[in-house]
Amino acid sequence: MICDGVLCATDRVVRSTIHRLVRLLLLSVVAGSCGSSAPRAYVPELGELMLFQQMRHAKLWLAAEADNWPLAEYEVEELQEGFDTIVAYHPAHEGSPVAPKDAIPRMITVPLADLRDAVRRKDRALFAERYDALTSACNGCHKATNFGFNQVQRPTSNPYPNQVFSAQPPDLN
Ligand code: HEC
Repeated sequence: MICDGVLCATDRVVRSTIHRLVRLLLLSVVAGSCGSSAPRAYVPELGELMLFQQMRHAKLWLAAEADNWPLAEYEVEELQEGFDTIVAYHPAHEGSPVAPKDAIPRMITVPLADLRDAVRRKDRALFAERYDALTSACNGCHKATNFGFNQVQRPTSNPYPNQVFSAQPPDLN
């Protein structure tokens, strides 16, 4: 390339500016891929996890009422797992004077174990008694966490028409 003073200098400035821009662009791509714009893991809120507990609490009652003990035992285990998840992801709850990580072992562990025992014995009368004990433990914790206005109870009807609760399901195929 023929260089005559001024033109050659301009060419050098343009080239070094382009190089700098490319470097900046590469840096921002690298920073973006490992920095703050990475997607955050989704953690359901305590209220959302409680909605699952509400559903399992209702299904547990419906299963036992239909003498479907394997389904009832499944729901007891799901409730247990739900509480384990709550303790792991919400050990404390903003504004609550009582922390879930303390309240759950103290208030829920025994009633839930007693209820599991009633399910394994397939004893409906004992189940009903212990179901009510678990339900009042749920409500006890709602009171302790300043959510006493939120009360749960035995289900009065079946909100799940698309699930078979009876012990011997009809052949659906
Ligand atoms: C750690 C104490 C604790 C225990 C034990 C507990 N809850 Fe809760 N529950 C809460 C708190 C706190 C909230 C409010 C969460 C929020 O929305 O911030 C709540 C909310 C709820 C809600 C309202 C959800 C909604 O959006 O309508 C339901 C239903 C519920 N719980 C059911 C249950 C059931 C059923 C049990 C027992 C099987 C139970 N909870 C046990 C503390 C507890």
